[in-house]
Amino acid sequence: MARSEFASKAGVVLAAAGSAVGLGNIWRFPYETGNNGGAAFILLYIGCIILLGIPIMVAEFIIGRRARTNEVAAYETLAPRTHWKWVGHMGVWAGAIILSFYSVVAGWALRYMVEALTDGFSGLDTTGFVQLFEGFTTHPYLPTVYMMLFFLGTHYIITQGVERGIERFSKIMMPLLFLLLVILAVCSMLLPGSGAGLQFIFKPDFSKVTPAVCLSALGQAFFSLSLGLGCLITYASYFRSNVNLLNSALRVAGIDTLVAILAGLIIFPAAFSVGIQPDAGPGLLFITLPNVFQQAFAGVPFVAWLLSLLFYILLVLAALTSTISQHEIVTAYLSEEFNLTRRRAARIVTLGCMFLGVLCALSWGPIKDWTLCGMTLFSFCDFITAKFMLPLGGLFISLFVGWRMPRTEVMQELSNNGVLSHRFVYPTLLFILRYVAPLAIAAIFVNEL
Ligand code: TRP
Repeated sequence: MARSEFASKAGVVLAAAGSAVGLGNIWRFPYETGNNGGAAFILLYIGCIILLGIPIMVAEFIIGRRARTNEVAAYETLAPRTHWKWVGHMGVWAGAIILSFYSVVAGWALRYMVEALTDGFSGLDTTGFVQLFEGFTTHPYLPTVYMMLFFLGTHYIITQGVERGIERFSKIMMPLLFLLLVILAVCSMLLPGSGAGLQFIFKPDFSKVTPAVCLSALGQAFFSLSLGLGCLITYASYFRSNVNLLNSALRVAGIDTLVAILAGLIIFPAAFSVGIQPDAGPGLLFITLPNVFQQAFAGVPFVAWLLSLLFYILLVLAALTSTISQHEIVTAYLSEEFNLTRRRAARIVTLGCMFLGVLCALSWGPIKDWTLCGMTLFSFCDFITAKFMLPLGGLFISLFVGWRMPRTEVMQELSNNGVLSHRFVYPTLLFILRYVAPLAIAAIFVNEL
């Protein structure tokens, strides 16, 4: 049977961007920025995107389109009977772990969507929003229920197959999300006292840069671009042979970074305006944002209601296009390697990850005392993937394309068999993959340890 493919070039960029743009940009980026001191972190993050993220994204595309299989088999195809397949295995596990804790936050977004629909935000002040967030996340079972609902949505789309499910969906949602983010950023910047927030994200204080901040920036760059665990290897296996890999990577990275910065422009001016500390942690988005709607549209409650509802719908959808990509890695692997039908494989992934997801959800409340290395299960899953597995995966991916794959094959994929030519860009890219990326990632790791 022919392997499915994305139907159009725009579909390729949109699907990859759909994977990249999600809670990582809108929820994780602001709170990591807040925890790591603001503007200097953002600069480091952008540096990581340009210097490491884009080249490694191209590397994942090269591996995926060359091998045209799930990511474990991709290493087996391109480097048979070697240990490279373990990089693929690590990616599959990382995908499953990310899917589990990510769906918890997606469940929060779903809950807030319902809250917005039923007008549950009106009349609340900042303390009210803090209580709402804490009351919900520590509730004995509600977060689990919403997480499971969200999982069912992901599962449904995954079983609909690549083209009908993923592609069609991303095309509609992405532009709409973008528009709404711009509107919200303007509203947020118009709030009284928002200037301090702008200063926080634009005026770097380099004395705050520590090895831990560098690792956070690196981890956030990889997390946000969906890099390092072969998610884009799997997606690129569905690319047609005329897709321009470098161009696609540039676009995806551009869109992703823009959305993250927009999220920062929404959250920080608002946070300073209503007196929330920027290092409030994972709750930052959920506590700050409803405030924007309430304050900016105090005189027109209907608009506040409508925009907040629209925002949470889009947030849920953005999370969905990301969880689909996480689910797809594991599902493609199981179904192709163990000869299962897609449905069967998807069911195993959903049930397995839901189980870990339940534990992650509960680790905010009932089992928050179960700690690993001093972190709750939720934080531990976030930490081990974003700050360890993804950068490590990225390191190996750059080594694989830089050193292990024959240069001719790499060039064929980059240039679509000689159709495209960039005399300076391709050698630079290879140089980064061979030397710069592995050394930079290794240096950041070593420094942090
Ligand atoms: N990039 C997504 C976000 O920003 C999350 C994500 C989707 C992801 N697929 C991934 C992260 C693969 C790491 C690896 O929300």
